[in-house]
Amino acid sequence: MRPMIEAFEASVHGGRNPSGTRTTCVTCHLPQDGWSSLLIEKMRAGLHAYWVEIVAGTADIDWQAKREERLAYTFDSACLSCHRTILLSTSQDARAQIAHERFFLGNDKKCVSCHQRVGHVELSEFL
Ligand code: HEC
Ligand code: HEC
Ligand code: HEC
Repeated sequence: MRPMIEAFEASVHGGRNPSGTRTTCVTCHLPQDGWSSLLIEKMRAGLHAYWVEIVAGTADIDWQAKREERLAYTFDSACLSCHRTILLSTSQDARAQIAHERFFLGNDKKCVSCHQRVGHVELSEFL
């Protein structure tokens, strides 16, 4: 996880913001909409990690390709646990307002469909 950690440390979510707020890894990579979905995903991800570490091996993992699976391993409920007020802001730019209104009306996008790089800055270079 070293490249992921370094790319996180370099990012807004790793504390590079005016208030110094740090997000933890699991806040984004686990659902935050209740204990049952959190526990189920934690178990699923934990068993998968165990399987890969013990049986399949990590040597052949194509981490660049796996970035494209970001919709599967980040959760809108996690983003919204902090960014609850994105629609209430009066100072944000119009592009954001329009995009977010569509999101809450229920289009087929997730937060990281548009914000693909949040959490890690220049991950490909660290990889
Ligand atoms: C703000 C939300 C957020 C936080 C916090 C966050 N991540 Fe991520 N993570 C993402 C997103 C979005 C991607 C896809 C990034 C990309 O493709 O550039 C990702 C990708 C990943 C991947 C897959 C990388 C690949 O090449 O397949 C791993 C593993 C990962 N993160 C681990 C971590 C670890 C470990 C931490 C804490 C040190 C962390 N993440 C913190 C949002 C986050
Ligand atoms: C623990 C709280 C927390 C979580 C969870 C979180 N964020 Fe953030 N986010 C922040 C903070 C704090 C900032 C910096 C605000 C500032 O600069 O004043 C920020 C900034 C941002 C920005 C603007 C800066 C940039 O990097 O472009 C975007 C976009 C963003 N977050 C999207 C997301 C998305 C998408 C997720 C879910 C994958 C997410 N955030 C999860 C707290 C969080
Ligand atoms: C259809 C694309 C799209 C989707 C989906 C989307 N956003 Fe955005 N978002 C934007 C655009 C465009 C901006 C303004 C330019 C920028 O900062 O990238 C923005 C800006 C932001 C910002 C910076 C502050 C602001 O309001 O200008 C935050 C935080 C943010 N989005 C969080 C989220 C979260 C959390 C989700 C999921 C609930 C989400 N976005 C879903 C397109 C989107």
